[in-house]
Amino acid sequence: MTERTRGAVFSPQPDRVAIVTGGTDGIGYSTAKYLARLGMHVIIAGNNEDKADEAVRKIKGETLNDRVEFLYCDLASMQSIRRFVQKFQRKRIPLHVLVNNAGVMMVPQRKTVDGFEEHLGLNYLGHFLLTNLLLDTLRDSGSPGRSARVVTVSSATHYVGELNLGDLQGSRSYSPHGAYAQSKLALVLFTYHLQGLLAAQGSPVTANVADPGVVDTDLYKHVFWPTRLVKKLFGRWFFKVSPRRTIIIITIITIINTIITTMINTINTTIINTITITILITTTIINTTIKSGGWRRCLSSEAAAERAEHVQKF
Ligand SMILES: NC(=O)c1ccc[n+]([C@@H]2O[C@H](COP(=O)([O-])OP(=O)(O)OC[C@H]3O[C@@H](n4cnc5c(N)ncnc54)[C@H](OP(=O)(O)O)[C@@H]3O)[C@@H](O)[C@H]2O)c1
Repeated sequence: MTERTRGAVFSPQPDRVAIVTGGTDGIGYSTAKYLARLGMHVIIAGNNEDKADEAVRKIKGETLNDRVEFLYCDLASMQSIRRFVQKFQRKRIPLHVLVNNAGVMMVPQRKTVDGFEEHLGLNYLGHFLLTNLLLDTLRDSGSPGRSARVVTVSSATHYVGELNLGDLQGSRSYSPHGAYAQSKLALVLFTYHLQGLLAAQGSPVTANVADPGVVDTDLYKHVFWPTRLVKKLFGRWFFKVSPRRTIIIITIITIINTIITTMINTINTTIINTITITILITTTIINTTIKSGGWRRCLSSEAAAERAEHVQKF
């Protein structure tokens, strides 16, 4: 087995082209590396050039695939997304896989360049625009036996999400967790609707949405500190024991976390969000474990990329 195909579930696919948004870090980075290992031409779309150069260098070195490159795309700016698509289309290459992965979670209330609440603008509207602008290229690149694919990374958080149609931007009452969940629900609904339209047209493109499970990445940097502390202290440990013991441990951690936050005695939105996200993480972990049958897999970005890739069914 060569370095290029090591660890790959799928056969080499050197004739295919993929775009991965947010491919500079976390799940996106692992996904980009995995696709590069399959021999694909991979384009990382991101907004941090230094980080991207480093990511491209590392992926090229580890996969021995030279067709990995970076194109600037700030998902928080509609103009930047349009420029990215123009630059991509000037290359006159096909597009077989679009991975809508970039995202932010529970950021303080702030706006994108175009004035949208950040979760809504970046996680959802940015990817909505990107997908629509690239749809014709995807359509031209897919074939009946071998569809082109849009793979959108959502989250189990969408189960608790609500579309606040009266105040989508959360300008009257802002909840970081509510805004994140709303953006992830919007991505799920968008994907279902898009897939319905594509299927009705008999299009050689499919729209897929995936939940990667709980993965230890920088995404959690805005989560309230007690939750981060609990994750740091116990994360590695409870991912190594049996599911039954893990459930007990997670329950204890949740109770401790709740007590700590209650003791701080400043019941405000942030604390309620912390409790909600802790419970959510717990249920997602249990869910993921039952589905994947392995605790260790939950903490690894590589495993998440693998799971997302299974959903794609190349
Ligand atoms: N980690 C989990 O447990 C988990 C669970 C469920 C769903 N997810 C979803 O998985 C996806 C990836 O998350 P992750 O855990 O890998 O988080 P991460 O490590 O923080 O990676 C997020 C990526 O998005 C990029 N990004 C952020 N703002 C951007 C912008 N304006 N324009 C372009 N790129 C931007 C980041 O680039 P910079 O670092 O340069 O900002 C980074 O590459 C997200 O959609 C997230 O909602 C994650």
